[in-house]
Amino acid sequence: MATPNPDLLAALDSRRSIPAKQLSAPGPDEITLQRMLTSAVRVPDHGKRVAFRFLTIQGDARHVLGERIAARGIEKFPDAGPAAVEKDRGRFSHAPLIVAVIAQLGPDEKIPEFERTLTAGCVCFALLQAAQALGFGAVWLTGWPAYDEQVEAWLGLADEECIAGFIHIGTPKLDAPERERPDPAALTRAWSPL
Ligand SMILES: Cc1cc2nc3c(=O)[nH]c(=O)nc-3n(C[C@H](O)[C@H](O)[C@H](O)COP(=O)(O)O)c2cc1C
Repeated sequence: MATPNPDLLAALDSRRSIPAKQLSAPGPDEITLQRMLTSAVRVPDHGKRVAFRFLTIQGDARHVLGERIAARGIEKFPDAGPAAVEKDRGRFSHAPLIVAVIAQLGPDEKIPEFERTLTAGCVCFALLQAAQALGFGAVWLTGWPAYDEQVEAWLGLADEECIAGFIHIGTPKLDAPERERPDPAALTRAWSPL
């Protein structure tokens, strides 16, 4: 048996999201970001496809994207009120760094697309863990912009790519309150053959 690692377990058990509005500067510098990504790419990956990539959004680029998304929101949801437009405008302006995790899908002779999507999801989760381990707060967000063709085009996604998540990373302004977690025992049954 491998040696138990209570520190690792404690880290897993302490992970929690910090709302994007509660993430402020400083964000990770380039070296720290690369350190985070080194942990984030260490995911189970059937067929070693590495069917994911990263796009960083920081500085003024965040505000430019927010303005475009607000304009696109007005076009898509003409009945949305001013609060929704403001929400869209601010989506990327809180955390100093947003890492878009992009899944590369499409035909593959052996590995189902679903499995490659799961791997991209693992990357998002590992990035959350790594950010917290390095003293930052983070949250995985999507919202309608993650599924919008025009936003995908602005971000330079290819036809077979999709956004697995926007991981917002920064310095937490507060300790996020813990939320109730599912009871694993209530979710578990032993299978018995009929
Ligand atoms: C794929 C995915 C997309 C998500 N998108 C959003 C989102 O757009 N808005 C949101 O409030 N929470 C979103 N969440 C939930 C948050 O990331 C987070 O899990 C939630 O706030 C609970 O916090 P916790 O991570 O501490 O459990 C998403 C989660 C996943 C897995």
